[in-house]
Amino acid sequence: MSKRIDSTRRRVLQGVAGTAALGALPRYALAQAAPVKIGLILPMTGPFASTGKQITAACKLYMERNGDTVAGRKVELIVKDDTGIAPETTKRIAQEMVVQDKVTVLAGFGLTPLAFAAAPVATEAKVPMVVMAAGTQVIPQRSPFIVRTSFTLPQNTAPIASWAAKNKIKRVFSLVTDYGPGLDAEKTFFERFKAAGGEIVESVRTPLRNPDYAPFLQRAKDSKAEAFFVFVPSGEGLALMKQFDERGLRQAGMKMIGPGDVVDDDVLESQGAPAVGVITSMHYSAAHDSPENKAYVAAMIKNNPGMRPNFHSVGGYDGLHLIYEALKKVPNGNGEQMVEAMKGMKWTSPRGPMSIDPATRDVVQTVYLREVKMVNGQPWNIEFDKVENVGPGG
Ligand code: DHB
Repeated sequence: MSKRIDSTRRRVLQGVAGTAALGALPRYALAQAAPVKIGLILPMTGPFASTGKQITAACKLYMERNGDTVAGRKVELIVKDDTGIAPETTKRIAQEMVVQDKVTVLAGFGLTPLAFAAAPVATEAKVPMVVMAAGTQVIPQRSPFIVRTSFTLPQNTAPIASWAAKNKIKRVFSLVTDYGPGLDAEKTFFERFKAAGGEIVESVRTPLRNPDYAPFLQRAKDSKAEAFFVFVPSGEGLALMKQFDERGLRQAGMKMIGPGDVVDDDVLESQGAPAVGVITSMHYSAAHDSPENKAYVAAMIKNNPGMRPNFHSVGGYDGLHLIYEALKKVPNGNGEQMVEAMKGMKWTSPRGPMSIDPATRDVVQTVYLREVKMVNGQPWNIEFDKVENVGPGG
């Protein structure tokens, strides 16, 4: 392959380790049937491990169903654990994957700060970067090589703001995790809900690391708001729901609303009865009623007993679909050609219809309104309405 890529990859390595290791690098050569290496960087341990486990399981299912070759090239999944908490670790792994593993695509990215950290690596190496989980709206602006298959917070928040305003909710207490997606959710909800005549009685932000919800929940209770708007990232909903229930907010009649991360399918069964009645808007529910989703959920549960697939899993599944379809269009395409091939792609996912907006390289999809209900003794997010073709701005 070209000297250009070789030297680009060397520059990336210099960024990490200086020049010492350069002499040992093999020459990069892309043969006709070179393998497609997908470098999946995810939190597999630590507080956000469920995101990594869900996405990895979904990527494996995609390959099981669609084969481990595409366009005549063998597909190799290289999974590395960034532990979810240190952006510099994600960046280092991305650099190693580009330089040492010579990946065709970087993928994964469980949280916004981790996607931000890897973006310059994708730009420098001209390697597509498929964001399968992180949800802050600006992410694709950080590199022309980013394409997103997850969701954005404005997209998943705008419908619940309209729903709340139309359903006689006037006074809301807001709690969001204090980083990109929380701030996006807060801004979108406040703008839309206030424009429709609603009032935010109090607004708090909790830290991403080791949050303690107790003092905030007491303030929420004292506020006597009609509804409690919440965004916490996947995994955090369990602790929050438990404390919301224990402190009597639910019993006091305060309605929990928000984007659907708080009632993530990965934790919903553990949340149990206290989650019943929570109303959220979200692009994916494991209870979504379609043949594609029924088959998907059954296959995920069969392969991973005890794990109900959540919204992050479909970000992974659809991310692999996007990579496979791009390779079918440009079998030996370089990074730029692959990103071009991804733009405008449209398909039916287990979540429903989705596409990649060619202008922003971001996801356009249906967002559903759902209520947690008990079905056969288990809580599920039951969809009752939907907004089609929602773009990244909501
Ligand atoms: C992000 C992570 C999540 O787990 C989630 O549910 C929403 C957003 C993020 O960091 O972008």
